[in-house]
Amino acid sequence: MTHPGATAFPVCELVTLPVGDVVTVTPPGRAPISVFHTSDGLYAIDDTCTHQDASLADGWVEGCTVECPLHEACFDLRTGVPSGPPAKIAVRTHDVSIVDGTVLVHLEQKDDVR
Ligand code: FES
Repeated sequence: MTHPGATAFPVCELVTLPVGDVVTVTPPGRAPISVFHTSDGLYAIDDTCTHQDASLADGWVEGCTVECPLHEACFDLRTGVPSGPPAKIAVRTHDVSIVDGTVLVHLEQKDDVR
């Protein structure tokens, strides 16, 4: 579901993002966002782990969970919530849609760079 007032940012064509793949984009003035194509669908989260400065796109995905490559905290791609330490803070999630074959992330005003 997208929220009124959100800005749609084009990420890529869906055909270039097969299931199991991830793409990272940095919208102007925003933190990097990674879009994961899982067997359950597309999920967009802030790319930077909330524990330290690791890219979650470099992590391992299982189901709807991504494991950070640095210290192995696991984040739920649907909610951004970590399942345990060392991460304690959720990563931001973003709505995703597909319009005419283009993957869009929907950025809210409050989604400024942290
Ligand atoms: S940087 Fe991700 S768990 Fe430490």
